Amino acid sequence: MPLVPMKQILDEAVKGDYGVGAYNVNNMEQIQGIMKAAKETRSPVILQASRGALKYTSMFYIKHMVLAAVENDPDIPISLHLDHGNNLDTCKEAIKLGFTSVMIDGSLKEDSRTPTTFEENVEITRKVVDHAHGLGVTVEGELGTLGGIEDGVGSGIVKLTDPDEAVRFIQLTGIDTLALAIGTSHGAYKFKAKPTLAMDIINAVEEKVPGIPLVMHGSSSVPAYLIDIINKYGGKLEKTMGVPMESIKEAIKRGIRKINVDTDGRLAITGAIRKYLSENLDAFDPRTYFGAAREAVYQTVKGKMVDFGTAGHAGDYKPGCLEDMKKKYQGK
Ligand code: G3H
Ligand code: 13P
Ligand code: ZN
Repeated sequence: MPLVPMKQILDEAVKGDYGVGAYNVNNMEQIQGIMKAAKETRSPVILQASRGALKYTSMFYIKHMVLAAVENDPDIPISLHLDHGNNLDTCKEAIKLGFTSVMIDGSLKEDSRTPTTFEENVEITRKVVDHAHGLGVTVEGELGTLGGIEDGVGSGIVKLTDPDEAVRFIQLTGIDTLALAIGTSHGAYKFKAKPTLAMDIINAVEEKVPGIPLVMHGSSSVPAYLIDIINKYGGKLEKTMGVPMESIKEAIKRGIRKINVDTDGRLAITGAIRKYLSENLDAFDPRTYFGAAREAVYQTVKGKMVDFGTAGHAGDYKPGCLEDMKKKYQGK
């Protein structure tokens, strides 16, 4: 099975009323841990690479590691998605590399820091849609801005999505899926206490554009046990809270279909490596501690696949390819 267009994975999630995790990946062990969870739970999966990941892996490694996952697990629908593309060239580059989906984060300027106007966002997003759809590639847009800054990405300013603007944005750009800002943020330090998210925004958009798959960024739950493991074995992370799983489940009920998770994977890996090396002072074979990290990613992601409702849906449909999607966009 080739890489699957993300639109198909999300449209199927709309039909089946469940969410699909979009997991950020940067190395082989992360991909293998996620794929082990997907295979075991029979879940379709979105593997996403940020610009930072593309730089870290020199692009070709990420492409071929994901293609290895496709070859290793031919029964699992996998889509490869560009996370937070900042301009047309980055999106074009990812598409040329074989990504089946791109995000153009037009909520921020190319510097990934300065918020754009609605019109600027429409203009860049429309350009990416024109290019990507011509090749059958799915496009995710974003309206509103999240809090939190990851590796210099993000304005640090929260602007919740205006539902009326979101509807106009979807119509003007032709995007396949839209990331909403409902009060989450990127990174480990999201909340100090249990958050109240702006869930009504999801319903307001769904009411006007029924069936549009919506995206929630900043969806890591930052489980206390992962912070505790890191701190028990020498780390110094502050007490923090992420998005509780019950909030994610509620968001899925209301129409969120793509759930972006990066931080929880990072925490799982860091905790496992710290623990392994602290308990095995004579260890120097990287396979031992990278293996422990891979296992921790598997455990963390497996739980999410069950909680998001993705589990059991890998065989529900015959996965399509970019050529099929190209024809659909052309109305053939
Ligand atoms: O949304 C941002 C993701 O967490 C990616 O983070 O740019 O550090 O790879 P990164
Ligand atoms: P987290 O930092 O909550 O994992 O969010 C990741 C994300 O939104 C990637 O686009
Ligand atoms: Zn994000």
